[in-house]
Amino acid sequence: MILSIATITALVILLVFHSSSSAIAGQPCSPPSASMEVMLKADPQIKNTIHRVCFNCHSDQPKYPWYASIWPSSLLIQHDRQKALARLNFSQWDRLSPEMSRIRLLDACTMMTEGKMPLWYYRPFHFEARLSSQEIQHFCAWAHLQ
Ligand code: HEC
Repeated sequence: MILSIATITALVILLVFHSSSSAIAGQPCSPPSASMEVMLKADPQIKNTIHRVCFNCHSDQPKYPWYASIWPSSLLIQHDRQKALARLNFSQWDRLSPEMSRIRLLDACTMMTEGKMPLWYYRPFHFEARLSSQEIQHFCAWAHLQ
């Protein structure tokens, strides 16, 4: 009994270490000046909204929950982040032309308005990722002015 508990504990520790090192490895780090909010001088509310709701998938500064380093959530998170970053990375706004910047912001507005982002299966685990209609309206109004 004691032996099996020790074995399981050791396995869990191994898994956590193994997957957390692979989750952190290869994490690009962009200078703050390249981020959307700095480049476009976004107001504090816009900044707060995207940090709270979108940054775990669409930025170089995710705030991982504890289970992010444990298989299988580590795999799912990495998979989502890869796909999400290919579409939109708020930390690398300097790579976008002014035209693309506008398109991405309007896309973001559409995704929020239609309730497609953040992803539905992410929301039950992240109470902080709820968007109020006021927040969505504010983001969209601002996006249309860019
Ligand atoms: C749990 C991870 C996650 C969160 C949180 C998240 N997204 Fe996404 N997002 C994705 C993934 C994955 C894709 C790629 C979907 C695909 O390829 O089918 C994506 C795609 C997008 C796209 C591109 C859509 C397209 O069709 O080109 C936009 C725009 C977007 N997200 C905006 C946002 C905004 C704005 C937020 C915050 C309100 C947000 N996302 C939060 C995972 C996330």
